[in-house]
Amino acid sequence: MNLINFFCIKNLKNLKNLKNLINLINLINLKNLINLINLKNLINSLVLFLAFSTAAQAQQWTRIENGRLWTDTNGNSVQAHGGNFLQVGDVWYLVGEDRTDSWNPDVNLYSTRDFRQWKFEGKIIGNGVTTPLLGRTRMIERPKLMRCPKTGKFVVWCHWEAKDYGASEAAVFQSDSVGGPYQLVWAGRPMGVKSRDCNVFVDTDGAAYFISTTNENQDLGLFALSDDYTRAISHTPLLIGQRREAPALAHVDSLYYMISSACTGWVPNQAQLTVSATVGDGWQVPQPIGDNVAYRTQASSILRIEGTEATAYIYVGDRWMDPDLPSSKIIMFPIELRDGQVTFEYRDKWEIDLKRGVWRDCSDH
Ligand code: GAL
Repeated sequence: MNLINFFCIKNLKNLKNLKNLINLINLINLKNLINLINLKNLINSLVLFLAFSTAAQAQQWTRIENGRLWTDTNGNSVQAHGGNFLQVGDVWYLVGEDRTDSWNPDVNLYSTRDFRQWKFEGKIIGNGVTTPLLGRTRMIERPKLMRCPKTGKFVVWCHWEAKDYGASEAAVFQSDSVGGPYQLVWAGRPMGVKSRDCNVFVDTDGAAYFISTTNENQDLGLFALSDDYTRAISHTPLLIGQRREAPALAHVDSLYYMISSACTGWVPNQAQLTVSATVGDGWQVPQPIGDNVAYRTQASSILRIEGTEATAYIYVGDRWMDPDLPSSKIIMFPIELRDGQVTFEYRDKWEIDLKRGVWRDCSDH
C-alpha cells in the first residue's frame, strides 16, 4: 500500500502509469507468491527428510543368526571361544580362544560396531610369543577382558593350565591399549587357591572380581580384585559343593544373577540360575533353566547393552565341538533378568537395536 500511495502521488495525472504500476505490483506479488510456495515446499521437504532420516537412525536392527561360524572381514572364521565383550565407545571388542590349534589356544581380539562385521585386531596373547611357558607347558582358556577405570589399562584374566588340568592356576595380562602388546603380570593360584574354569565380573560401581571353579571342581571362588584389577585380594567360597563352572554374572536392579553349568567337559548340560542380593554372600541354591543341554551351549558371558531406551542382556555361550573344537560356535540370545527370574529361551534368529538397547523376534515384523 505504501508503494501504491507513493506512486499515486507522483503519477496521479498519468493513468497509463497507474495501470503499469498495477501490472507491476501484480507481477511482484505473483513472483513473491511463487517464491513463497517454493519456500514452503522446500521447508516441507526438509521436514519430511529429517523425519525420515531420524526415524531411520532411531531404528537400526542388527540380525543375529545362531548356529554358524562367524566370518571376519578377512574371510576367516572368528576364533574367539570362551571369551567376553568389552565396549569402548560404540565399538565392542571380543576376546576369546583361538581354537584353530585345538587344544592349545592363542588369544584373539576382534572388534565390531554392529555384531555382523568382525574385524580381526590381532592375536593379543600368543603361544611361545607372549611368555616362554605359554604353548609349551601352559595353555590359556576362557580369557576375559576388562578396562580398569583407575589405571585406564586393559587387563585380561584367564585360566592358566597344564595339559592335565592339574596346575589349576590363573594368569593376568595387561596392556596400555586394547590391541596390545599385553605383558604377563602374574600367574599362579589366586590367594593360593586351586582355580580352574573362570570368568570376571565388573560390578556397576567398578569393583571387579575373578570367579572360578575351586576345590577340585566342588565350589566356586569369588576373588575381589585390587583397584588396578591385577591382583586377587580376597577369596570367598560360593555355592559350596554344588560343582558349578562357567559362571556368568550380571547385576540388574538390586539383584545379582549367575548362570553356570555343571562340570562335564565339552559335553553340554543344563544351565542353572542362582540369585543373590549381595555378590559375596546369600546365593540361593541354583535352579535349572532352559532345556537339559542349555540349547547345546555352555555360558561364556552375559553381555550388557545399555541403550537410550532400555538395557538388553544377552547370553553368550559356546556350542563346543560342533563338530570339532575349531568349529565350535558362539551362540547369543537375549535373556530377561527380572525379579529374581530369568527368561532363558533360545532363538535361532533375532534382532537388536544396539543404540536403543531393544531387541525383537524376527517374526515380530
Ligand atoms: C569345560 C570347560 C572348558 C574346557 C573344557 C575342557 O568344562 O568349561 O573351558 O576346560 O571343559 O574339557
